[in-house]
Amino acid sequence: MKKVGLVGWRGMVGSVLLERMQQEQDFAHIDVTFFTTSQTGQLGPDIAGTPKPLQSAYDLEALAQMDIILTCQGGDYTHEVYQSLRDKGWQGYWIDAASALRMSDESIIVLDPVNKDVIEQGLEQGVKTFVGGNCTVSLMLLALGGLFERDLIEWVSPMTYQAASGAGARNMKELLVQMGQLHDVVADQVQDPSAAILDIDKKVANKMQDGSLACDQFGVPLAGSLIPWIDVPMPSGQSKEEWKAEVEANKILGSSKQPIPVDGLCVRVGMMRCHAQALTIKLREDISVSEIEEILGAHNDWVEVIANDRETSSKELTPVNVAGTLRIPVGRIRKLSMGPKYISAFTVGDQLLWGAAEPLRRMLRIICA
Ligand code: HSE
Repeated sequence: MKKVGLVGWRGMVGSVLLERMQQEQDFAHIDVTFFTTSQTGQLGPDIAGTPKPLQSAYDLEALAQMDIILTCQGGDYTHEVYQSLRDKGWQGYWIDAASALRMSDESIIVLDPVNKDVIEQGLEQGVKTFVGGNCTVSLMLLALGGLFERDLIEWVSPMTYQAASGAGARNMKELLVQMGQLHDVVADQVQDPSAAILDIDKKVANKMQDGSLACDQFGVPLAGSLIPWIDVPMPSGQSKEEWKAEVEANKILGSSKQPIPVDGLCVRVGMMRCHAQALTIKLREDISVSEIEEILGAHNDWVEVIANDRETSSKELTPVNVAGTLRIPVGRIRKLSMGPKYISAFTVGDQLLWGAAEPLRRMLRIICA
């Protein structure tokens, strides 16, 4: 059994990961050690047999005993520990949720339903560093995997609707606090059928604009509004989240030498944990919508093609339907008026599952197989 060190298992992504590992009985296949950045010596979780004392996540000797280290601790931890561990001669597998090592030449971005061949080739060639992709990128590739696999996409422009969870646990709470604060100012009036909606709207707008809404995390109101910028600016005028789409998608697909253009705007909206994306796609060939649907639906076990009608789309192509599941619905597929090779699509995915924890969990299983 491989010795696996888990770091950052208490945070949001780490907790989702542990839950999935328990559901899939992954702990039966590994000899796990829980590491901590702050509670060395305290008892670890009662998950894989008798709880054992937590080991320090900065103890390079203890880390070096592991065959595999899986971390959801974040980029600062990776920067602090990874290179020192490698410099000591540790040759184990490092599986990381953070973006720190994603674009490094020594790493592979993992999304095995899409790039199993890239992963297997890397393992054969001795690659030891595997990193989870950006959530929107992974969710888009799972949805469009069939078209990418057949090299049918000339370019794609994803316009995203990203949930609060992508910004962190505290941001999710802040969104809910903001929603509550907005409701509070009009709680009586919304129950009163005779109350004038423009009066209600004015009070809500005043609350959003008077600086009293809780905004420590997002910096600006999100409830009842949106934020058309995610992450830091890049010299190109893109936000870093937008920049990631093309470089990461092509790295995952193994097409970095002849990259497929992937570029659009990333927007934060008031959803909890599901990212959605409206996609404009230019195909290389004029193929029918039914053929496109067949290709998409056959690609992996999680993608679900949703009929392009109002009722099904409103029920099934939504965060409400997807949150907490591994479903990747893709719908609103139709030809655009720009020409027969231009199609639209809309997809939704759980940002914490396929967008973060699941590819890492599956990579662990691939290494331990
Ligand atoms: N950067 C993403 C977001 C989450 O802010 O939604 C992590 O991939």
